[in-house]
Amino acid sequence: MLNLKLNRKMAQLALLQRIELANPLLTKLRKVFGRYLFSKIFSKYFINVKEISKNYSVCMEKELITILPFLRHGQKILSIGSGLGGLEIGILNKFNETNITFLEKNYVSKKIKYGWDNDNKEGYNDLSLLKNLIEMNKISSDQFSIFDCDNGNLPIKKYNLVISLYSLDYHYDFNIYLDYLKKSTDENSFIIFDTIRHDYFKKIFNQVRIIKVDQNTVHKSKRIVCSIFK
Ligand SMILES: C[S@@+](CC[C@H](N)C(=O)[O-])C[C@H]1O[C@@H](n2cnc3c(N)ncnc32)[C@H](O)[C@@H]1O
Repeated sequence: MLNLKLNRKMAQLALLQRIELANPLLTKLRKVFGRYLFSKIFSKYFINVKEISKNYSVCMEKELITILPFLRHGQKILSIGSGLGGLEIGILNKFNETNITFLEKNYVSKKIKYGWDNDNKEGYNDLSLLKNLIEMNKISSDQFSIFDCDNGNLPIKKYNLVISLYSLDYHYDFNIYLDYLKKSTDENSFIIFDTIRHDYFKKIFNQVRIIKVDQNTVHKSKRIVCSIFK
């Protein structure tokens, strides 16, 4: 079982990335005082760090189960919008000789909207905290690398698997990464992400399979596995 020990800053980030980690008090504070005060004040000072660490670990463990059939030892994985990387730490713990490239933002927006962002300006991460959490979990430095997606120089590599939970095509357009993903995958690669327009991807890929349905969220998204670009 994952047992991630977050510090206060990490717990605040985890909460901003996964609003379902909020307890009823925090949910109410967000509703009454709005997203700005929630992002700046309540998510920082009104949280129970141990409770968020435990809930985040359970949440990431459950996510790991949804993608388990696509994981193997020794894979090269690209993670787009990993957040704090709890899922990826779970993968690196379970699968030997796996290497994960993280592509993420390195800032937290003033007022997180959790909607669709055409300009892709919304970010909720801190790459130094992502790196800290990975290192705290004894992952060796040759097993991962972290890239700021706004820096332009995306890594040139072929990946067996691309994962992007509640990020790519959930908060911003898949097409931002279309050319890059075409170059960095091949006919044996799988690309897994959450979307509300799964049918659209039948035009882009030869194979599109639904592996999870989220009916309880506002977005009512589906998790799909795609392979072979048309
Ligand atoms: C809702 S969070 C989900 C985090 C994590 N995947 C999870 O399931 O807990 C979305 C993440 O996508 C990141 N993000 C936004 N735009 C991005 C981009 N163009 N490339 C990579 N990551 C991005 C945000 O910074 C944020 O950490």
